[in-house]
Amino acid sequence: MCGIVGYIGLPEKIAEHQALDVLLEGLRRLEYRGYDSAGVATVAGGTIEARKKSGKLANLIDEIEGAPLVPASLGIGHTRWATHGGPTDQNAHPHFGDDGRLAVIHNGIIENFAELKQKLSAAGHTFDSQTDTEVAAKLLGEAYQATGDLTEAMRQAVNELDGAFTLLAVHTEAPDRVVAARRNSPLVVGLGEGENFLGSDVSGFIDFTREAVELEQDQIVTITTGDVAIINFDGTPAEGKRFHINWDASAAEKGGYASFMEKEIHEQPKAVEDTLLGRTDASGKLTLDELRISPEELKRTSKIIVLACGTAAYAGTVAKYAIEHWTRIPVEVELAHEFRYRDPIIDETTLVVSISQSGETMDTLMAVRYAKEQGARTLSICNTNGSTIPRESDAVLYLHAGPEIAVASTKAFLAMITASYLLGLYLAQLRGQLFSGQISDILADLHKIPGKIQTILDGAEPIKALARGMAQTPSVLFLGRHVGFPVAMEGALKLKELAYIHAEGFAAGELKHGPIALIEEGQPVFVVVPSPRGRDSLHSKVVSNIQEVRARGAKTITVAEDGDDAVTEFSENVFFVPETQPLLMPLLTTVPLQIFACALATEKGYDVDQPRNLAKSVTVE
Ligand code: M6R
Repeated sequence: MCGIVGYIGLPEKIAEHQALDVLLEGLRRLEYRGYDSAGVATVAGGTIEARKKSGKLANLIDEIEGAPLVPASLGIGHTRWATHGGPTDQNAHPHFGDDGRLAVIHNGIIENFAELKQKLSAAGHTFDSQTDTEVAAKLLGEAYQATGDLTEAMRQAVNELDGAFTLLAVHTEAPDRVVAARRNSPLVVGLGEGENFLGSDVSGFIDFTREAVELEQDQIVTITTGDVAIINFDGTPAEGKRFHINWDASAAEKGGYASFMEKEIHEQPKAVEDTLLGRTDASGKLTLDELRISPEELKRTSKIIVLACGTAAYAGTVAKYAIEHWTRIPVEVELAHEFRYRDPIIDETTLVVSISQSGETMDTLMAVRYAKEQGARTLSICNTNGSTIPRESDAVLYLHAGPEIAVASTKAFLAMITASYLLGLYLAQLRGQLFSGQISDILADLHKIPGKIQTILDGAEPIKALARGMAQTPSVLFLGRHVGFPVAMEGALKLKELAYIHAEGFAAGELKHGPIALIEEGQPVFVVVPSPRGRDSLHSKVVSNIQEVRARGAKTITVAEDGDDAVTEFSENVFFVPETQPLLMPLLTTVPLQIFACALATEKGYDVDQPRNLAKSVTVE
């Protein structure tokens, strides 16, 4: 949460782009990380110039237009997701230390801020905001006074901080550098010619360079126009890992769509295709090259624990059905933030599979670290190359779905499910649990999924029309069974986060144990219907569930397989999806629910890319 960007360039670069242009462009791309307020600070002519404003980046831009900054060639910028202190102008970053000569921006939470604030107040400091960041700024100011060196001051200051943080600082007396530190919070360096960049992720500088450097935990980096120097928190020198960014800036643009979310929904055929790409050898055998755990170790797996949050956890629940069915390995799915507080049973034969689009979700990262400490093997299913969770895991299966910018996850969800299927099939292949013919049949069906998603997208108008007509609906329920259950949960989550409508997803069988009391005349209920070609009893039980809610006045909207005429007479609206294997159905049945939520929120006039109170990358616990 919070987007961070830093820049320094040679003075002659100002003709090309001044620091402010780079910072605002970076913030525009990072705004998905938080949009409660935004701010910038530049250093020019021996002074710090800063502007900050509550609300979205557009407010800051208006502010700067009203009071322009003098051209500068270094600066820092921030877009905030509020933790300590409300989203006000005062609490917006940057914050200042050393009598206004130092500006600091921060992502994360400084856990011992109250204690530090007390000490600093006793020493005579006064505070303009309620933030933990201002405490770090004052502390850094004191350290600068003592050392006269911004890098060393940062080193001394961070060693007094507990918690998770990325900090960036500039000082009027050090106009040749931007200094940054990271602990449990993301930061990457962008490498230019005569200029260097810092960002929460590569989108912070993707318009200016494709060459980047990864930092490890507990490191400080000092960027100047010609150098990137890294040290550890103990002062020892360190090397960063250089990498090339293999997506271009246009992948992070709307490309003619009204929103990133719409674009990403439409990118789903390609996302699934790219997740499947290059995973088999010439003989058709699955080869997951990125898995750095030996086949012998994987064969010994006695239990799988899937750790994830939000949408990724629903992808994990789909994975459970498939992996258990194909491998006969027991799979537990757990919300990452609950995991380490329940004394889970783990040993070296446990495979912990984390699922995360961003690879930075703090709850998931902490759970993975805990699992490692307990001796488990850890495997990350992740979309963001080089992010912290895959870097700290024993193995990784990247999604290759391209950048997902909209806060509500769509294409990453389908790609996560696809990658989980690949993992399940790979384990089944290793353990000889499925015949090679069975695996290639499932893979062949998976390869047909992108075309089938496209069919749903091409026929989406009736779903959108229904959504537009339901803009005043106060509540929507979603029912599903088997793999349709996590799809129902995901459908409800999309509607909550985008349209701010009360929505709940239930296992259809659970209805009679309580939730059916919610049904009253006209209550819309989406039902994700399993294939009639799967287990017969499952389909007929869901049809019975549909009748049960209709008998109590519900308006039923069903998502069913092509040709499933049995549901038509019990549905106000029915949306058909193409046939596929029952276990693969979530890759299709999710899509109408995403389209519905997006269209309904759009009809209500909401910003579907940046829903209120949320941030894309949740880097606080
Ligand atoms: O980056 P991650 O996949 O780890 O994020 C996990 C959740 O925060 C995320 O899926 C969240 O629930 C989305 N807003 C859902 O649309």
